[in-house]
Amino acid sequence: ASTLAEGAAQHDRYFGVAIAANKLNDSVYTTIANREFNSVTAENEMKIDATEPQPGQFNFTQADRIYNWATQNGKQVRGHTLAWHSQQPQWMQNLSGQALRQAMINHIQGVMSYYRGKIPIWDVVNEAFEDGNSGRRRDSNLQRTGDDWIEVAFRTARQADSAAKLCYNDYNIENWNAAKTQAVYNMVRDFKARGVPIDCVGFQSHFNSGNPYNSNFRTTLQQFAALGVDVEVTELDIENAPPQTYANVIRDCLAVDRCTGITVWGVRDSDSWRSYQNPLLFDGNGNKKQAYYAVLDAL
Ligand code: XIL
Repeated sequence: ASTLAEGAAQHDRYFGVAIAANKLNDSVYTTIANREFNSVTAENEMKIDATEPQPGQFNFTQADRIYNWATQNGKQVRGHTLAWHSQQPQWMQNLSGQALRQAMINHIQGVMSYYRGKIPIWDVVNEAFEDGNSGRRRDSNLQRTGDDWIEVAFRTARQADSAAKLCYNDYNIENWNAAKTQAVYNMVRDFKARGVPIDCVGFQSHFNSGNPYNSNFRTTLQQFAALGVDVEVTELDIENAPPQTYANVIRDCLAVDRCTGITVWGVRDSDSWRSYQNPLLFDGNGNKKQAYYAVLDAL
């Protein structure tokens, strides 16, 4: 294979990238993104603050810049993200209780109906669990509306677009031994047992000294897949981009039938939300790094 997308396709997987709308006029950036990847996630443009800046007033201008670029270039889009404690517009941050619950429902319905039949997969709920050893839900305005907010979000999403794949997405859930991983696993198991509609789990995979890659990641992917959900690596970046670690992540996904694809969280190091960690596959000039070759080789 000569590109990441080609390599992944040989295994019936996709290889995706997070894209920022304000970089679509940078031809070095778009050349790499178009050549190497066949799936796109909007880095920020489909989040709540971007798509519903005022209550009930949806704005898809930036989201559509991503969507149109992706479709014009033959790429699939992963929708990211509908219910999250972060990047909420001020009006939503000010809500609580029943009003916030209803606003969450309206938001999911508004965004998913706009993209019905166009975006085949959504991160419905993002980052609902706490770090550390508690295994508890993260305290947030959404969580304070009641423990059932996550399943309500998923049921709403299924109704809004019955054909879309619905994912739960989180970080620091790659290590099988982490309390947070076990907590998310138990939630998914419970959802499957009770018929709450969930189709996939996204493992963000932001690896760094605080959340180092562990070879039991493959076990984690296998255990979740065994619950009857697809698994995806949704936001991959690795502090200092060690080639071996990147290759290990690729091999872990390829080893699990239900691991459907991998997305890296940005094109070049200079595009990364953690640019100081140089965590991506291309350097600031757009040159392929050692990690790039290790990934291509592992595919
Ligand atoms: C990050 C973006 O990369 C930044 O540009 C933004 O300032 C903050 O959000 N988990 C997620 C992503 O689900 O949406 C986050 O993206 C990174 C962590």
